[in-house]
Amino acid sequence: MQRFNHIGELRQQLHCWRMAAERIVFVPTMGNLHRGHLRLVEKARDHGQRVVVSIFVNPMQFNDKDDFAAYPNTLVQDCAKLTEAGVDALFLPSVEVIYPDGYQQSSKVVVSGLSDILCGEHRPGHFIGVTTVVAKLFNIVLPDVALFGEKDFQQLMIIRRMVDELCFPVEIVGIETERESDGLAMSSRNGYLNAEERQQASLLYRILVQAKSQLLLGNENLAVIEALAMQALQKGGFRPEYFSVRNRNDLSKAQGNAQDLVILAAAWLGKARLIDNICLNSG
Ligand code: PAF
Repeated sequence: MQRFNHIGELRQQLHCWRMAAERIVFVPTMGNLHRGHLRLVEKARDHGQRVVVSIFVNPMQFNDKDDFAAYPNTLVQDCAKLTEAGVDALFLPSVEVIYPDGYQQSSKVVVSGLSDILCGEHRPGHFIGVTTVVAKLFNIVLPDVALFGEKDFQQLMIIRRMVDELCFPVEIVGIETERESDGLAMSSRNGYLNAEERQQASLLYRILVQAKSQLLLGNENLAVIEALAMQALQKGGFRPEYFSVRNRNDLSKAQGNAQDLVILAAAWLGKARLIDNICLNSG
């Protein structure tokens, strides 16, 4: 695996691969890699000859400075995992490389509407940070295909919309959430849970599964399903931010008899903010 810290040197290598008619597949990450990321890397191989991964902890998407400062740096282990996974190139830019004039001064990419609801409502500015850095990374790497996890369902939708509306010539592929054996979605944030919280954490997924069953059984009272889920999370020691049944195509609030749905949730457990979702087509 070749490592690149600067845009020019990475572009030179990418140019050679492109000249050899090799397709470039890109997996952007913030490091602290777990099995979910490695699944993206593994799937990337199905889409082209060269797999490029970036590790960049993007300050623009952290609405809380302490959260940014505390984000784990596991570069040595990450590099070993990516080498073993057969990644061709790792892009490791500094903040100065991505934001030469500081991120506050940088031009920004805003996907309006979708970025302001759910996680966007609770983390103001977060998705502007995500779309800005992903747009920059796309312009640096110029990938044919880019892969993102479905755990970050809203992020994936926002990136799809950005690519569509701004005509980025890249195909976006969503990859199913990797879960621990008890159902907890894999996330870098799980490392913030203590042993007791880790035991409790899978409740979030179990409540999503219960809500899905209710919908599949024909319960059309979404407000009650959502309220009961919020209560169950609180009872289980979580501090829920939202639990919401939405239309899958645009994340608008669903009506009782809607068909193509996604249930999304975000809740704090101790110091960890966990998010998860579950899709269903009740038709
Ligand atoms: O999902 C993530 O890890 C980040 O939001 C991303 C897409 C790498 C942008 O910083």
